[in-house]
Amino acid sequence: MNSRIVVGISGASGSIYGVRILEVLKGADYETHLVISRAGKITLAHEVTERLEGIISLADFYYSEEKIGERIASGSFKTLGMIIAPCSMKTMSEISSGVTSNLLARAADVTLKERRKLVLMVRESPLHLGHLQNMLKLTEMGTIIAPPLPAFYIKPKSLDDIINHSIGKVLDLFDIKLPDFKEWQGA
Ligand SMILES: Cc1cc2nc3c(=O)[nH]c(=O)nc-3n(C[C@H](O)[C@H](O)[C@H](O)COP(=O)(O)O)c2cc1C
Repeated sequence: MNSRIVVGISGASGSIYGVRILEVLKGADYETHLVISRAGKITLAHEVTERLEGIISLADFYYSEEKIGERIASGSFKTLGMIIAPCSMKTMSEISSGVTSNLLARAADVTLKERRKLVLMVRESPLHLGHLQNMLKLTEMGTIIAPPLPAFYIKPKSLDDIINHSIGKVLDLFDIKLPDFKEWQGA
């Protein structure tokens, strides 16, 4: 079975989402391929307490964003798909236009061209027309736009509950179930 998943961390706020996805997938039967953008490293340094080396060690394979020739840049390297968590407006725009300037955007472009699942946890607020148009275009191209928005109906008791619920929804798109992620049973 192909169990490879590409995880991208870009420079939007919310780098903890990418870290948590790596933590969850480390305990599961998936092979993770991680790429972090230059700006992603800056937001990680601002937002999480773990050191970069520790985050990288959560992944089975790590690639530098400058190394455009790595295997995740090729469609012949088969994966289940890619999650970018969080996804900045810049990375989203690059994927939308096809003008991919680094390995993160290129891997997403490849995911789309091979008709594999691409999930973008986009984060920005407020959004201008260009952002929304990019989201529309990407959706028409088959991308899943999945902004990490808190769901208050789960009655979160901590930030962790909110983070886990958001990534639980995204992993569910790949049929990966978190133990604590419950289907809504009706009001
Ligand atoms: C602390 C911090 C928070 C940021 N938050 C966001 C954000 O939420 N959304 C966004 O689109 N850009 C955000 N940015 C700006 C991006 O990092 C910047 O546009 C960068 O060029 C994105 O590059 P990348 O897409 O290659 O990672 C933030 C930057 C910093 C330093």
